[in-house]
Amino acid sequence: MWTIALVGFIHQAVGAVQPEKEEQQPDWVTHAFKVIEGQAKGMLKEVKKTGLTPRSIERGLRPSEDWTSGFYPGILWYLYEYTGKDQWCKEAAQVTAYLEKEQYSNHDHDIGFRIYCSYGNGYLLTQEAHYKQAVVNAAKALSTRYNEKTQTIMSWNPNEQRDWKYPVIIDNMMNLELLFEATRFSGDNSFTEIAIKHAQQTMKFHYRSDFSCPHVVDYDPATGAFRRMDYNNGFCDPKRAAWSRGQSWGLYGYTLMYRETSDSQYLAFAENIAAFLLDHPNMPEDMVPYWDYHAPKIPTMRDASAAAIMASAFLELSTYAEDGNRYFKAAEKILKSLSSEQYLAHPGTNGHYVLKHATGNYLNGSEVDGTLIYADYYYVEALLRYLKIINDQPLFTQSHE
Ligand code: GLY
Repeated sequence: MWTIALVGFIHQAVGAVQPEKEEQQPDWVTHAFKVIEGQAKGMLKEVKKTGLTPRSIERGLRPSEDWTSGFYPGILWYLYEYTGKDQWCKEAAQVTAYLEKEQYSNHDHDIGFRIYCSYGNGYLLTQEAHYKQAVVNAAKALSTRYNEKTQTIMSWNPNEQRDWKYPVIIDNMMNLELLFEATRFSGDNSFTEIAIKHAQQTMKFHYRSDFSCPHVVDYDPATGAFRRMDYNNGFCDPKRAAWSRGQSWGLYGYTLMYRETSDSQYLAFAENIAAFLLDHPNMPEDMVPYWDYHAPKIPTMRDASAAAIMASAFLELSTYAEDGNRYFKAAEKILKSLSSEQYLAHPGTNGHYVLKHATGNYLNGSEVDGTLIYADYYYVEALLRYLKIINDQPLFTQSHE
């Protein structure tokens, strides 16, 4: 165990008024952040040359419209939070500005990922009014995809080829966070109401009795009726598929629903999802899941992104649940696995990404067993949450308390 002073900056970032004290930081976390900072520096050169943000080695640097554009600026904001260095604040602000027009774009639900990870984190750390307004603008844009009949947000646009009239994907649960924050920032309760209705319908129609879910559920926008479960990611049988990143999105989503509402039904739901994951016979010993929990006969690849999202969610859940230590220990195990040589990049390699062995979409043959910027983002977020918990610091700013 190593002690550091710099993480004392976290006190400032969350606005707590406690005196600075020495922070505890295990060596494996110190090493992980050294790698993260070095890789982010290497990546920054490419980013500034192009004005684009990284998605993966396979898909390269992408324009702001890509669903992943918020994650790299988000990592830079987290590095500012961790180090307190002005340089990271400046770099984060510069890269966040690449996404400026995205706050108005309602072409899919991913505006939540784009804007909350970039502008949202920027606001929490700087209280910059422009960032706050961007979060509200993005919530307005996301709300245009809500339909009173289905009582959900339409994640993607209708698709004749797939016979989707009103597709909702489990990933959409993540973007409810933006709506709650926008209500706090603007006083407009309609954002929160939409988030709650979406979460309620998703519990009812997306989940099976074992608390697993498929990727896609299609609704009829004219009547609001459930049409069917389907897949785009994960295994191709929507009755059985349990795409591992999707299960992590749901776990994280219902945990944040409890944070935002204090409604115990969401805590119970998150714990039921957690039980599905923790007790699953196909969960590997190192707790970095295969790409789908229910596809054991298909050549298996891990998904480090599913592991990182799950670790971050378990850490938050550990602060609410009666048996919180179970979730804390699971998260710690995942983070130690991801911080081992098996998954953590050797500095200067891996295309400046942090984690190895992440899988985008296995059956589409896209970004299989490679790098993914969102694996890196949630890994960094989980490490910061881990440090806050072991140092008895709150996970969220006052606006969440
Ligand atoms: N949100 C898209 C994915 O998780 O692949």
